[in-house]
Amino acid sequence: MKREIERIGVLTSGGDAPGMNACIRAVVRSGVYYRKEVVGIYRGYEGMIEGDFKRLRARDVGKIIHRGGTILKSARSETFRTPEGRKQAFENLQSEGIDGLVAIGGNGTFTGLHLLHEEFGMPVMGIPGTIDNDLYGTDFTIGFDTATNTVVQAVDQIRDTAASHGRLFFVEVMGRNSGFIAMHSGLSVGAEAMLVPERKMNTDELVRILDRNWKSTKSFSLVMVAEGGEQGHTFKLAEEVGRRLDYYDIKVTILGHLQRGGRPSCLDRLLSARLGVAAVEGLLEGKKDVMAGIVSDDIVYTPLVEAIKRGHHFADDLSRIAHILSI
Ligand code: F6P
Repeated sequence: MKREIERIGVLTSGGDAPGMNACIRAVVRSGVYYRKEVVGIYRGYEGMIEGDFKRLRARDVGKIIHRGGTILKSARSETFRTPEGRKQAFENLQSEGIDGLVAIGGNGTFTGLHLLHEEFGMPVMGIPGTIDNDLYGTDFTIGFDTATNTVVQAVDQIRDTAASHGRLFFVEVMGRNSGFIAMHSGLSVGAEAMLVPERKMNTDELVRILDRNWKSTKSFSLVMVAEGGEQGHTFKLAEEVGRRLDYYDIKVTILGHLQRGGRPSCLDRLLSARLGVAAVEGLLEGKKDVMAGIVSDDIVYTPLVEAIKRGHHFADDLSRIAHILSI
C-alpha cells in the first residue's frame, strides 16, 4: 500500500533562475492547501548535509513572487557527490521527518535527486528551474523566458552604440552546452548569426555572411555566441574575424551573470505556479523520481534520468529563419 507523505522538503539547487521564488511559494502553499507540512532546505544539497532546515508556512512565502534569486539560497555541492555526503543528507531528512522531496533546479540538481531515490528510496520530484532550457520533458524551464528577455533588453542597448559607431558586436550569452538562449534572443534582436554548440558554423561561413553585410551597406552587425562551455572562445573568434575582415571595428560583450537575475517575467511566474502545484500533487499521488514539466500546455511527468539525458532541442527552423531575415 502507498504510504501517505506528510512532510515535504523543498530546495533550490545549482544556478539560480528568475521564478524560483514564485515556485517555492507555489510548492509551500499547495503543500499547506493539502494539509501537509513543508520544510525549506537552505543552500541546496549543502544545507541538506548540514541540516539547514526551516518549516515554511503560507505566510512565510508572501511578498516573494516578484523577486529574482531564491530565498532558500543555492549552492553547487561537492560533498553531495560522495556516497558519504548523500548518506548524511538522507539521515538529516529522516530525523527532520521529511518523507517527500521537491527540488527546483537543472541537470546537476536532478542527478543528485535521482540518486537519493535510487540509494534510499526517497520519493522525489524535480521542477525544471534553470535559465538554460536544456531539459527534456518541458517546453520551457523556469527562468529561461526572463533570461532571454534580459538579453534582448541588453542587446537593444548595444544596438544603439553599435549603430552609432557602425561596429560589429559579438555578444556572448550563457546556456552551458545549450544554444537555446543564443538562438531565441538572437532571432529576437535581429542578429546576423547565432553561433551555438548544437550547430557548428565554421568561421569561413561567418566571414562570408559578415562580408556580404558590409558590402550591402548594413550600418552595424550583431553576432550572438553561446558560451558553449568554453571560456574565451568569443574573443578568439572576434580576433580571427578581425584579421580576415580588417575593415570592421569589432567589440566583444560577455553578458554573464546579469542574465540570471531580475524580476521574473509573467510567463516564468505562470510556469512556476503551475509546476509548483503539479509537483506537490504528483508527489501526493505517488509519483516519484520524475520531473514535472509542461509540454504543449499539458502537465507531464518525465523520469528524471530521461529529463537529464535525452536533451532538449530548439526548433529546427530557427537558423533558416535567421538566415532569411538577416539579408
Ligand atoms: O546553468 C545555469 C548557468 O547560468 C549556465 O548558463 C552557466 O554556464 C553556469 O550556470 C554558470 O555557473 P556559475 O554561476 O556557477 O558560474
